Order: sequence, then C-alpha cells, then structure tokens
Amino acid sequence: PTVILRANASHPGRQMPETLFGLFFEEINHAGSGGLWAELVQNRGFEAGGANTPSIFDPWYKVGTEAQVIIGTDRSSPFDRNPVALKVEVLCDDDHKGLNFCPKGGVGAANPGFWGMNILAGSKYRVEFWLRSTYSFNLSIAFTSRDGKVLAREYLSVDADANGGWSKQSVVLKAKSTDHYARLSLTSSTKGVFWLDQVSAMPTDTFKGHGFRKELAMMLSDLKPGFLRFPGGCYVEGTRLTNAFRWRDSVGPYENRPGHYGDVWNYWSDDGFGYYEGLQLAEDLGAAPIWVFNNGISHWESVPTEAIGPWVQDVLDGIEFARGPANSTWGAVRAKMGHPEPFRLHHVAIGNEDCWKPFYRGNYMEFYKAIKLMYPDIQMISNCDGSSVPLDHPADYYDFHVYTDPNNLFAMRHQFDFTSRSGPKAFVSEYAVTVNSGHGNLVAALAEGAFLIGIELNSDAVHMASYAPLFVNDNDRRWNPDAIVFNSWQEYGTPSYWVQLFFKNSNGAHLVPSTIQADSSTSLASLITSVVRKHKSSNGLDYLIVKAVNFGDCALNLELEVSGISANDVVAAESYITLMTSEALMDENSFTNPLKV
Ligand code: AHR
Repeated sequence: PTVILRANASHPGRQMPETLFGLFFEEINHAGSGGLWAELVQNRGFEAGGANTPSIFDPWYKVGTEAQVIIGTDRSSPFDRNPVALKVEVLCDDDHKGLNFCPKGGVGAANPGFWGMNILAGSKYRVEFWLRSTYSFNLSIAFTSRDGKVLAREYLSVDADANGGWSKQSVVLKAKSTDHYARLSLTSSTKGVFWLDQVSAMPTDTFKGHGFRKELAMMLSDLKPGFLRFPGGCYVEGTRLTNAFRWRDSVGPYENRPGHYGDVWNYWSDDGFGYYEGLQLAEDLGAAPIWVFNNGISHWESVPTEAIGPWVQDVLDGIEFARGPANSTWGAVRAKMGHPEPFRLHHVAIGNEDCWKPFYRGNYMEFYKAIKLMYPDIQMISNCDGSSVPLDHPADYYDFHVYTDPNNLFAMRHQFDFTSRSGPKAFVSEYAVTVNSGHGNLVAALAEGAFLIGIELNSDAVHMASYAPLFVNDNDRRWNPDAIVFNSWQEYGTPSYWVQLFFKNSNGAHLVPSTIQADSSTSLASLITSVVRKHKSSNGLDYLIVKAVNFGDCALNLELEVSGISANDVVAAESYITLMTSEALMDENSFTNPLKV
C-alpha cells in the first residue's frame, strides 16, 4: 500500500524549543565512576571500606607474598575529609645482603581499575598520588598487563622525610604496548615503610581536556543535546538521606572529596565526576545544564518542611557555586577549580519522583520561593505530573517519566495531544521501553521513535525530553536497557541510542504542518510522521527532515509530495534517507556486532 505524505515546505510552521531533545546523565551502572569520568583507579583514596580502620580496600590488592609485604589501611591521611590511607610495609630487600629478596618488579599494592584499565601503546597517562615515607628507596610506578607484562614504567626516587610528611607526586607514563585489562602497581624492592593516598591515573587525552572519556563523550556530542539533566535520578534521592548525592562534597580538589556510597544503585563513587564536572560537561556539549537537587527527601525519609531551611540554603549555595561571581564565597571555589566565568545554569529540578512523598509540596514551595527571590530567571521543575490535571503549585515545568512496553509507548505518541497549552510545560526527563526490550532492541527503539515524533508534534506542550538511563558499564549492569553500553575499552549504541540521532537536528527547527493519506483499505494506525525544516547557517541551506515510524506488520510505501519548493531548490547531494532496520524486531547491537541494528 502507498501512503502520501504532503507538506508545504514554505509554510512558516512552528518553531520547536532549542532544548527539545537532550540528555539525562545519572550515576547509575557506573556511568560516571568507571565510565565517562576517565579516572582509571577505583577507590583512589582507600575510603570505600569506611572510615574505621583497618578496612577493606577493594579492589586494591597486595603485590607480593605474606613474607614479602604487608599492606593495610590506617587513618594517617593528610586530608581531613578522607582520613584513610594505605600503609605498605616492605619486608623483603634487594639492597642489603639477606635471604629475603624481593620478586622482580618489587612488592607493594596494585589496582585493577574498573574491571581492567585500558592502556594503549603510544598513549600517555598521568599518575598522581600522595606519598609519605620513613626511608629512601626507588618507587616503581607501572602499568602491567593481566599476564604480568610491563606496559609502562617509571621510577621515582623517594627521600626519607624525617618529619613523616606527605607530598604529592606526579609522573607521566607512556605505554609501549597495549592491554585493555591492565592494572596500576606501586612497588618497592627495598625494606621499609611507606604510605599511599589519593592515587589517580588518567589518560592525558580526554574530551576537551576536562577528564571525560573521549569516545563516550563524543557519542553524546553527536546527539547535539539541547540540555543535560544531572546527576540523577534516584541517585540524587538516596535510599537514605545520608547516602544521597550532595553537591558540596563533590567539588574542590579531588583529594579532599569524601566520595560516597550510592545506596540506590549500590556502589561506591569517589565523586571525581561531581557537580562541577556535570556543569562542565553540559558546557562542553553546548547543552543547558539542568541540576536535579535533593529536596530533603530520600526513598525512605522526608525532612519536615519546618526543618527544611538549611537544605534550602545548601541549594542556594549550590546555585552560587554555579553562577555566582568569582569573588562570591562559592563562586570563588568554582573559579579556583578553573572556571572563573559563571556556568549558564537556568534550570533546576526540585527533587526526583517525589511528588507523592511526605512533605513534598511544603518543601517544594520553600525551595521555589527562595530561588525565585534570588534568581528570578531560573526555571523550576516540579516532580508532579501536570499533563492531565493542572498542578496545585507554581512551576515552570513538570516532570514526566515513563518506562513501559513497546505497544504502550507507541500508543503514548498521543499522550500530550490534549494537554493544556497554557501553564507549565512538560519535561519528559525519563522515557524508555523496558519490557520485552532485551538489552535494547529494535522494537523498543521503534516505539521510542514514535513517542519522540509525538513529542515533536506536541512541542508546544512538551519542551524537553531525554532517554534514561544513558550509560551502562557492561561489567556491572544495574538497570536495563540503556542507550550506550561500554566496558574499559569498547562502546556501542543500542538501537535506543541510534533512534535519538534521528532527532539531533530537531532542536530549534520548525515543525511544518503535514498530512498523511492512503486509500480506504489501508490503515494508518501504525504510522506516525513529522516534517521539520531546519536552517543550517554553515552552508545557508534549509533542510526538510521527514521522519516516519511504521509500527505495523505491513510494509508501506511512503510517497512524499512537497509543495512550496521548486525542483531547482533541491540539492541532490544533500538529500538522503537514513533507515533504522535489522532482520528481526528483537535484534540488538553488541560489542561484536555494534551496528547490527
Ligand atoms: O533511570 C533510572 C531510574 O528510574 C531513575 O533513577 C529514576 O528517576 C527512575 O525511577
């Protein structure tokens, strides 16, 4: 059957928001820690096991035997917010005559990173750490392969510090061979005692030089996101408030960020990717930052409204950190971190999925009033759904989340058809097919594509939309499916990632009215289409972008009838079709077949 899609290319249409499609970054599935944040060392400050020592210091492990070395944590760290350090007592000795010689390469401590470090021949890595020693020796700093081969090594000549003081050390290692599952070891072959703390290893080449793993950040940048919502999600709430993400603990020098155990997704984070890094990432992607903050509510607890004052002040401080002048209290902390200019923070979300939790309305209003008073331009996002009934409180946006099956999400292409056009706009900050979706398959992506076309058609009621979750480290999947799958050295987009790429030119484009028509025997119920016009300033051309999802089991020929344009105006070289397809609806991409769909 043939379907005719008619559009008038010269119709002014309706401009869609510049922020219509964007990203939601949450610290889930090791999205940041062991993912986008390029830090190779896991548990860099030895704090993950808690502040009571001796503690567990996984995944660090001992290099050498019981007779050769003893390692364990104590509380001798120079950092007040990170009390724990690692003490290394070398028992073997190559320098003096004796029977207890050290093994080749020495003894000490090693870290395997996040399921292996990706060390590539020819690449450089900056290794930084804090050291305290009571004796003089040569410290070996090396990346070694799984089977013990040295990939890169430097020696540091350490002098005994009579005062027992700590000093920061920094070396650059250039790898001479490759292993995707390497480890970092710090070892000695001389008897004596030394301490390590805040050990970091980063590739010197990161996205825009800001510490983001390049290939992953480039996959984000390819989507041309209009906004970046961060850092969660449930991660912001915590199961308990003590484990919620707190912006204040995630800024300033890395060495003195306490890190925390995210008790919703159940892993420790050193908080190398903190509040500042979220703001920086948004800026680097050309996206508007949207900060989701904790409003005194976790999964299990709620701070009563009468006691919410300090929480409100904490958020005002956080906004000052983002956009206060460099001589303000918190603006100065930001400036010292390398960003004297304010970040363009104009959106905040008051909590996450808290609408029906105790004290939400009361707490919300306290945050809302205080922020509007000091920052009238900041747009605020409520957790309550205003798509079918008006909100009972003031807001600029309301949050809308949907996780469902393919048929239902396809049906939801009409979700916002009858939503009020006046009042707060919808922010669909989390959507995904999560049922019958495997690890991300074609049918899920098709339903999502239809839902997004529905959002384009309703972009006078919906102003922002983002898929969730964005990332998963394949070694520790806490949520399924996700848009981008990675391990220490590989990455691929699930079909849900690729479907977002179809919308990369939609932000700020004009929605052109269009109609579809077929003969009476052809059902159009499985089809959804949109036509948008986008002006590209780089070459001065206007593009007409036609998107169509056929969710039915019958193939349709789509015939395009475009008026308001002459054939001479069509540049053949600039006209193309992108098709998302595969052999079967349940097909998925994988590391071995990343472009199957
Ligand atoms: O995207 C995963 C989780 O789903 C988010 O943390 C939460 O907001 C939602 O429940």
